[in-house]
Amino acid sequence: MDADYLARFRERSAEEAARTGPPPEFPALPDLPLGRYTDPEFFALERDHLWRKVWLYAAHETELEGAGAFKNVEVLGAPVVLVRNEAGEVHAFMNACRHRGAPVVRGPQGHARLLVCQYHSWTYDLDGILKRVPDERDFAGLCKEDRALVRVRCERWGGWYFVSLDPDAMPLAEFLDPLPRVLPEVAAAGLRVLDHKSVVLGCNWKVLAEAFLEVYHARTVHPTTVAPTVDTKGTVITLYDHGHQSMLSPVIPGTRNDDREALPMWEGVTPVFTDGIQPAHGIFPNIISPLDARGFPFLVFWPVDVRTTRLEITWFATDWGGGEHPRWDIWKKRLERFDVLMDEDYLNLEPIQRSIEAAAHGGQVINYQERRIWHVHAWIDKWIGAERIPEQLRVADALGHLIQAV
Ligand code: FES
Repeated sequence: MDADYLARFRERSAEEAARTGPPPEFPALPDLPLGRYTDPEFFALERDHLWRKVWLYAAHETELEGAGAFKNVEVLGAPVVLVRNEAGEVHAFMNACRHRGAPVVRGPQGHARLLVCQYHSWTYDLDGILKRVPDERDFAGLCKEDRALVRVRCERWGGWYFVSLDPDAMPLAEFLDPLPRVLPEVAAAGLRVLDHKSVVLGCNWKVLAEAFLEVYHARTVHPTTVAPTVDTKGTVITLYDHGHQSMLSPVIPGTRNDDREALPMWEGVTPVFTDGIQPAHGIFPNIISPLDARGFPFLVFWPVDVRTTRLEITWFATDWGGGEHPRWDIWKKRLERFDVLMDEDYLNLEPIQRSIEAAAHGGQVINYQERRIWHVHAWIDKWIGAERIPEQLRVADALGHLIQAV
């Protein structure tokens, strides 16, 4: 990002603040059908044609330091483990022994010299090759070469590893496009995982995601936390190809009452991340990140079932080399403030899910400020294929003409 980008943002922000209605190119949208949040068949379509096909964030390189480092990730029920091998490469496998399916490593993260099944001790090396079978003489016709751990596609953007359950998935760089071209400095930033937490909420994953796709709710839901600090009327939204999007809000000068200025920034940072802008980038389908040169979280939404979602919040800070962060005093307060803000967001989610299930209000009405929500829904349908979706649940590609070429 460069000075031109900043200048364009200022110009667009001024236009947004001055407008008296949606621009003429923004169409009146039909309501989003409620069945998209409740119908088990639609959930199954999402599972089979979206979640089992797309690239999904799984781990950061600093969670996989040294040969034998591993991290387990549950991808829509599939047990996936990322492992760093002796050559320093990270690969992903199904954490399912080729004998009878028991895990070959346990726990969320750790280090292992070999991957030893927890049931009968079949033993795999760090490349997933089956090396040892106890009582091998009792297996008629067993060919160890054919029984390596099942590989899962795993590719990297910056320090972030993504996985896809689809062996034929397009390359990650293509899936993320144009974000790697829009955010090169973020990918190059030397970051380290600072903090992680997991929250389970009683709502469809899209109800949760949508709470982070607009700032229309800021004045009502966050009257003392967000609203006083950002000029929501000057918010600039950009829809990108492949369902990705961004939302940049001007920060009202002098209102950020915290000591984040003392935290280091990544090298080569440009003014977009320092000069009074609060960005929130969306990586389709399930990541929202308020990128910030002084550290930021990934909010990752994982569907558990049609009305249950697990939110994984992982914070990244400029790499300090490990151990306790030297400014944990500041970070502790920053994380606590963020928790307050998140609690404000959580308040409405389960009641919204209940309203949707009761069809209490007919449909979800989407305005110009909320167009990222429509964009994400439209891309969900592109992945599923409109022909598979019951007509009454489809979302048309009504905003495709607003996608910004990069
Ligand atoms: Fe792994 Fe038997 S299930 S050794």
